[in-house]
Amino acid sequence: MNILVTGGTGYIGSHTLVELNQAGHDTVVVDNLSNSSRRSLDRVEELVGKRIPFYEVDIRDRQGLERVMTQHRFDACIHFAGLKAVGESVEKPWEYYENNIGGTLVLLDVMRRNGCKNLIFSSSATVYGDPAVIPITETCPKGHCTNPYGQTKSMLEEIMMDMQKADPEWNVVLLRYFNPIGAHPSGRIGENPNGIPNNLMPYVTQVAVGKRPELGVFGDDYDTPDGTGVRDYIHVVDLAKGHVAALKAIERRCGCAIYNLGTGQGYSVLQVVKTFERVNQVPIPYRIKPRRAGDIATCYSDPAKAERELGWKAQYGLEEMCRDAWNWQRNNPEGYGDR
Ligand code: NAD
Ligand code: UD1
Repeated sequence: MNILVTGGTGYIGSHTLVELNQAGHDTVVVDNLSNSSRRSLDRVEELVGKRIPFYEVDIRDRQGLERVMTQHRFDACIHFAGLKAVGESVEKPWEYYENNIGGTLVLLDVMRRNGCKNLIFSSSATVYGDPAVIPITETCPKGHCTNPYGQTKSMLEEIMMDMQKADPEWNVVLLRYFNPIGAHPSGRIGENPNGIPNNLMPYVTQVAVGKRPELGVFGDDYDTPDGTGVRDYIHVVDLAKGHVAALKAIERRCGCAIYNLGTGQGYSVLQVVKTFERVNQVPIPYRIKPRRAGDIATCYSDPAKAERELGWKAQYGLEEMCRDAWNWQRNNPEGYGDR
């Protein structure tokens, strides 16, 4: 297929480009580079041995998107572009709604006007809020999102489902990611956070490389085996492959389909820290801190639906996630070196 990838220079987008191209698809990238480096695409091109057309276009720019859409005929769009920092979204709600919702509305309109009605969307386990059941299946009711970032994901899911209902020519696949970590095993692409990382693994790797003195562990009094928060960490390469598999749902003309992308296995913060230390032989000094506002105790998926319907199952374990995260950070201590 010929696929438009919005947000393709970002963390998950760049890994997905590799898997798509290696599976024989063609890709075109649109990104405004607000949270990514153009250099990630050079690395992807090097890994797949193929040139990937790139447009520095904001998805809110209707004319810019129209130009891309008329120059290429797309079979589907994988839509990663969006702002994703939870804390920042609480500080700047308008910016998050305008970018994520406003931008996606423009994208959807330009897509339908150009006859491309096949969409895969990056949603998040955050839409389950504090989940009603564990492990979380796709039928678990959506919960209350405590921040504007989560709200944008939940609202966009509703918008896309309504559009699909009104016009059955649309095929919409909503992928609810659990906690993507790690990097491509080559060490050539990985996560490149701006400033102080909010998420656990990039913080751990920055402590490991000596950029930060210690990790703060947010709470050790949760109702979990060791008191620290439990999450479903998934290797970013497995997650990327989930998008290639999701194209099967589009080919089958799924209408609207929702899939959890997780491993089904929960690990605590301290299990992640200990595994990282053991696998990579690097110490991670840490200190227990108060709980972080908005955090929940436990969140992990039941990923059976994706296996049953898409033939997709995560292959990598926590050890490989820790190994590859460190391999990327160690070889690229300044990320792509341009921000
Ligand atoms: P990322 O920030 O690395 O990638 C997002 C990309 O979108 C960036 O390259 C950024 O420059 C681009 N972008 C943002 N606004 C844009 C706009 N208006 N026009 C064009 N480009 C724009 O983030 P990521 O971790 O790769 O996440 C990709 C998607 O997956 C996001 O939608 C994110 O919300 C979602 N998601 C991520 C996680 C996670 O843990 N990383 C979890 C669940 C869902
Ligand atoms: C966070 C977002 C969520 C988003 C997800 C994507 C919040 C509240 N939620 O989820 O909306 O979809 O990222 O990956 O930010 N931790 C520490 N110390 C740290 C960082 C994290 O102890 O420095 C702990 C957290 O308390 C949590 C676990 O590590 O128990 C994972 O945290 P994180 O990587 O931020 O992911 P989530 O909170 O699951």
